[in-house]
Amino acid sequence: MARRSTSFVCQSCGAVYPKWTGRCESCGEWNSIVEEQASGGVGGGPAKTKPTKGRIVPLVGLQGDTKEAPRIQSGIKELDRVTGGGFVRGSALLVGGDPGIGKSTLLIQAAAAFARLGHKAVYISGEEAIGQVRLRAERLGLADAPVALAAETSVEDILATLQDGEPPALLILDSIQTLWTEQADSPPGTVTQVRASAQAMVRYAKKFGTTLVLVGHVTKDGQIAGPRVVEHMVDAVLYFEGDGAHQFRILRSVKNRFGATDEIGVFEMTGAGLSEVANPSALFLGERSTNSPGAAVFAGLEGSRPLLIEVQALVAPSPLGTPRRAVIGWDTARLSMILAVLEARCGVRFSQHDVYLNVAGGLKINEPGADLAVAAALVSSLSGLALPANCVYFGEISLSGAIRPVAQAQSRLKEAHKLGFDKAFCPKGNLKDGRRTDFAATGLEELGGFIAKIAAKGGSGADA
Ligand code: TYD
Ligand code: MG
Repeated sequence: MARRSTSFVCQSCGAVYPKWTGRCESCGEWNSIVEEQASGGVGGGPAKTKPTKGRIVPLVGLQGDTKEAPRIQSGIKELDRVTGGGFVRGSALLVGGDPGIGKSTLLIQAAAAFARLGHKAVYISGEEAIGQVRLRAERLGLADAPVALAAETSVEDILATLQDGEPPALLILDSIQTLWTEQADSPPGTVTQVRASAQAMVRYAKKFGTTLVLVGHVTKDGQIAGPRVVEHMVDAVLYFEGDGAHQFRILRSVKNRFGATDEIGVFEMTGAGLSEVANPSALFLGERSTNSPGAAVFAGLEGSRPLLIEVQALVAPSPLGTPRRAVIGWDTARLSMILAVLEARCGVRFSQHDVYLNVAGGLKINEPGADLAVAAALVSSLSGLALPANCVYFGEISLSGAIRPVAQAQSRLKEAHKLGFDKAFCPKGNLKDGRRTDFAATGLEELGGFIAKIAAKGGSGADA
């Protein structure tokens, strides 16, 4: 019998320790270290078998005739966009997201779409019973799609089943945390199990040209729980995000060996499953009140996709010695910076005021290009003057008060134009090439002049 050894494995990052400690030195997580059995070879400890002689592999040059990776499209446009134009055969993807966000719904819809196009699609659920999946499919109107379904968690059984027939074009495993293999001794869900199971399944996918989709749950802080180790094994990692209070969901690629990262697909959760949102800007601006002070429309960019988002600010006199600053959907430190620049460079004072900032629709903006829209919303709320309803704002503000150019100004303006906006305040550096005559875009070099303009007449003075 192979010698059994135990090791202590961090369930958050997969670091291995010879003895238990309270805190993982590698990722800093507390109480994440669990004792796991390793019987050599799989999932951790080095194999104790006799070393075999290596085989000679041919070394080749960088040039050669390699075809573009063959892709299969689901026909769900928002999904195909995020994967970079369809699933690549023989690739493995990890789809992460909070429990209940809609991962299973999205993937059963994808499986049905593939199956209806004549590809073999297999959906294996480790979390739900067949009856539950069928009920869901029924509700989604997918019951007639020829998806092959099983409720199974054993990797060996799954592999045996798959090897029994023609390999599927698409294989969905929901979820990776429920899978277990006899090759590792730890309980399902532990790093060792997840790693060993994922390895076995990825190997199958590469060998048979199957697109493998692994579903994984995410922890509160946005890490894929436990199986972060899986992120390195797969070709693409997609996050499905959104919040319970809103209907829309965003599928975002954070890693993609076959396409661009940070590409997003937007879906709306309806009674009949997830429906694609072809024009997300219209959705996010849908409930906008156009004549209240403190609201500014930011012409943003998510991946390669322009997106219009409303930034709302409320500036109110504060009864407190230290006024409040509360932010939803943006970076708190970035807000403090904008407030400091407004105060130091433009003489606009917020020290006696509470400041609340909210990004409408529950979205989260990470782009510094939103600085100008935030500044506009803040000044508008402070002065009580509404900004013009037909105007968008973008530009990065530096500590000196200068307004810096941002990427892809033209596509931002184009998106704004499509949605009926015809004025913009943006960095002067972005207007150099002088295109777009259908837009009254005001190029800005520094914040002071901009503030004077919007404080005077709510910014209606945009000129071409
Ligand atoms: P689910 O796909 O089970 O989430 P996950 O696999 O990420 O845990 O989604 C469950 C949620 O989606 C549940 O709260 C109900 C909601 N939902 C709808 O609103 N409409 C639908 O048609 C379906 C199938 C689910
Ligand atoms: Mg699920």
